Amino acid sequence: MSLTELRSPAGNALLALAADLVDGDQLRAVEALRATGAGPELAGEALTQATLRARAVGKFGPDAAEMFFTRAGLEQATRLTVADRRAARLARAGVRTIADLGCGIGADARAFARAGITVYAVEADPGTAEIAAANTAGLPVTVEHRDAQSVDLSGFDAVFCDPARRAGNRRVFDPRSYSPPWDFIESLTKRAAVIKLGPGIDHALLPAGAEAEWVSVGGEVVEAALWCDRLAEVPRRATVLPADHRRSTADGGGDVAQITGGGDREADVGPTRGFVYDPDGAVIRAHLVAELADTLGANIADPTIAYLYADEVRATPFARAYRIELVSPFGLKRLRATLRDRGVGRLTIKKRGSALEPEALRKQLRLDGPNEATVILTRVAGAPVTLVCQPADVS
Ligand SMILES: C[S@@+](CC[C@H](N)C(=O)[O-])C[C@H]1O[C@@H](n2cnc3c(N)ncnc32)[C@H](O)[C@@H]1O
Repeated sequence: MSLTELRSPAGNALLALAADLVDGDQLRAVEALRATGAGPELAGEALTQATLRARAVGKFGPDAAEMFFTRAGLEQATRLTVADRRAARLARAGVRTIADLGCGIGADARAFARAGITVYAVEADPGTAEIAAANTAGLPVTVEHRDAQSVDLSGFDAVFCDPARRAGNRRVFDPRSYSPPWDFIESLTKRAAVIKLGPGIDHALLPAGAEAEWVSVGGEVVEAALWCDRLAEVPRRATVLPADHRRSTADGGGDVAQITGGGDREADVGPTRGFVYDPDGAVIRAHLVAELADTLGANIADPTIAYLYADEVRATPFARAYRIELVSPFGLKRLRATLRDRGVGRLTIKKRGSALEPEALRKQLRLDGPNEATVILTRVAGAPVTLVCQPADVS
């Protein structure tokens, strides 16, 4: 990439023009960019960067407009609010220097540096390393194109590793396919380190003594992170951020909600009750459903399914609540009749512990009517049931 050219004043002007053109016809956009005197390669690069910047706004907000990306680098980068929270926690733990092993386009490195931590970042891909250097220009960050496994870690307060979880264009879910490799990552867990992992990480692979944290943003679980050695505070943590979480609350205050525990308790099993809670994915992944049940006075109704049932509804950032209008054994005809009786034309279908395909079911239900409802397909004590519900107003 002609990064040097794009970072020059003329390149900046080209990027500003490209930003105005990204939503229109691509061919015309390139022509307009070339009309400024830019060569075809530079015009193409400017358009690609402008497109990636527009796509990056969801992760980085206004910062996206000053950053550079590759497609893969953007996909893998930690979103701003999550990186800022991590950096703030490290700074609070007294970390002043950190080695970022596989820094990608430098999203975490930027956050560490802004939190006052001096960063030594390495990246195996030369083009990505160049971008990381551009994205951290002016901050206390040194970026080198180098293999993470060759870095002498002895002089750093902490180590951060966010391994690549991709092979070619595909995502990989098995940690043995991570890069740097899993045995290297495992060796890092014996020191003050934070390791970012995929949310689906097998609990059997979590090292004893480490804290495993799952983070969700707007209800979507975006990552797991291992906090190792002296950085671990609890065995398991679920951190829940709203979709519109802003940097100003990145220090862990404001609208960040956290629940912690051992991750080894089972929630009590009991009957279905007047309300059902659908826990946030971070709570479920962190195996903290029993801890959440305690705070809600709730129980599960099937030992393998993480819906929580309670007689009263309480406000919680860790789950969505629904008032149950009807519980019945699953049967297509019965459900169709129930929804017809209630005049339900708009239906939200949720499921856990059911093999049914919601969209196929929706067609079979032939919905018609002015009313709205939520149907939850699940199991109670092993048997398939349908819960007809309404979102609970918890104010
Ligand atoms: C998931 S990305 C890091 C994203 C970064 N934390 C961010 O938020 O921008 C992982 C990066 O590690 C790099 N990588 C993979 N194996 C490496 C190795 N052995 N040494 C250095 N970098 C490596 C990949 O090229 C990729 O850019």
